[in-house]
Amino acid sequence: MSTSACITTPIYYVNDRPHIGHAYTTTICDVWSRAARLRGSDVFFLTGTDEHGSKVEKSAAARGILPQALADENAAEFQRVLAVFGISNSDFIRTTQPRHERQVRALLQRLVKTGAVYLGTFEGWYDDGQEEYHTETRARELNYKSPISGKPLTRATEQNYYFKLSAYADRLATHFASHPDFVRPLERSNEMLARLRDGLQDVPITRTNFSWGISMPDAPGHVVYVWIDALFNYITALDLGATDGDRTGGSPYWPADYHIVGKEILWFHAVIWPALLMALELPLPKCIYAHSFWIADGQKMSKSLGNFVDLPTIDRYIAHFGLDAWRWYMATQGPIAATDSDFSAKHFHEIYTADLVNTVGNCPSRVGAMIAKYFDGVLPVDTRPQDPPDSGPSWEAICSNTVSDWERRMAAFDLHGAARVAMDLLRRVDVFINDTAPFKLAKDPANAERLASILNQCAQTVRVAGVLLEPFMPSKMAELARAFGSVPSGEVAWSVRAKYGTIAAGHRIEKLALFPRVDPVKIAPSPS
Ligand code: MSP
Repeated sequence: MSTSACITTPIYYVNDRPHIGHAYTTTICDVWSRAARLRGSDVFFLTGTDEHGSKVEKSAAARGILPQALADENAAEFQRVLAVFGISNSDFIRTTQPRHERQVRALLQRLVKTGAVYLGTFEGWYDDGQEEYHTETRARELNYKSPISGKPLTRATEQNYYFKLSAYADRLATHFASHPDFVRPLERSNEMLARLRDGLQDVPITRTNFSWGISMPDAPGHVVYVWIDALFNYITALDLGATDGDRTGGSPYWPADYHIVGKEILWFHAVIWPALLMALELPLPKCIYAHSFWIADGQKMSKSLGNFVDLPTIDRYIAHFGLDAWRWYMATQGPIAATDSDFSAKHFHEIYTADLVNTVGNCPSRVGAMIAKYFDGVLPVDTRPQDPPDSGPSWEAICSNTVSDWERRMAAFDLHGAARVAMDLLRRVDVFINDTAPFKLAKDPANAERLASILNQCAQTVRVAGVLLEPFMPSKMAELARAFGSVPSGEVAWSVRAKYGTIAAGHRIEKLALFPRVDPVKIAPSPS
């Protein structure tokens, strides 16, 4: 029986072109999804585009086109690049789709009916770029400037519909306390808790100063605030707002296992979204995971600084190093924890060479070459599984421990750790080859049995490591699987795929060269 799992990316604004930020969040979700599918889960991996709001309205006006035309153009571009990044999403939601708009209106109607949403007057501070209102206290903390653009906040008064966020402060605090993994990493959870302790104020959820959005049911002139509209995507994609009457339906994929978001949008996801779900009496996501930012040479990436990694730049990396190398760099060197990560061409090349050329590429190629040389390319029999017997755990035990460790880390979204344990397995094989020196043993026919066992063990272990690396580098690891005679993913249960010793003796092992050495070219960001 397969279990269900669900992971989401934020939905991306269509007034921007895809760049490293989108590539990053989407790729790490993809790695997790592929790992969960390998383990037999039925995964719903959701991504999509956030298409409403005054920013889109303004960008479209600046180009003299309708907002829907701009949204169509850029949503198509986002969908196209999913293939460029090798993304295996299950659905792509667009907030202008009728399925979404219809459900958002129904969900809001329910919130009005229960009193969680009411009409009121707002006075406060507005961040135009972020389309976000701030209270006096928060605005003072921010020095009356946008934390994102640095532009001054403007004073605003508006009659709006409000969500009674204040009513959920205690329940939210209790939930944080009883679910320590609700928001991760811990640093981010603590930030949210500190802000929660300052108290919560009701939030305006409609606007009257623009029209490109979902109209509030029974309230002419009121358009649903883009953030509220957008947050609902996580449940409208699952049709959770589709039932008539007061009840919501269920979905095997809800609650989501992970909402993966950048740290700058955590408040919406960790506080406003859970409160909305509480108001709708829906279960809360299991974990909201906020990663940090890619930066360049210690500075924020920006188009004006000329250090911005946009799609043409990413395309150049992929052309030079290959897609799997790009994914590897994203997933293993990125800002998954609480600190930002520096992106640099030099570091990219170093990681490519150390991890991919010298380890993931070299180890299987060494093993394959020795099997070719000493056994005509045919996997020899292993008659001495624990050889020498007093040298520690068998390869079977090492692999089985590594697989369990990897499973635990993947489940916990520790992608760096999961990648490391898989790499360590290959490094251990390299050390084993150096220690046992098969090339020396091969000189004396008396060692034939020992030589056969060593190479069999190396091949079996390399195959297992390849399976663990597959979510990161699906196409290169499919090549490895083919060369080592194992079955492609999806066709065999995880318990069999992850098991040591499944390549039968007598099987032909193909030689392979997975990652060619490449020059450390200077890949400059696109001109601004
Ligand atoms: N539309 C909102 C999300 C609504 S979700 C209900 C939004 N969209 S976005 O297009 O701006 O996407 C931002 C995503 O890209 C975030 O996860 C953000 O953290 C990520 N990144 C943008 N720049 C980034 C870096 N330089 N580094 C890493 N990720 C960053 O916000």
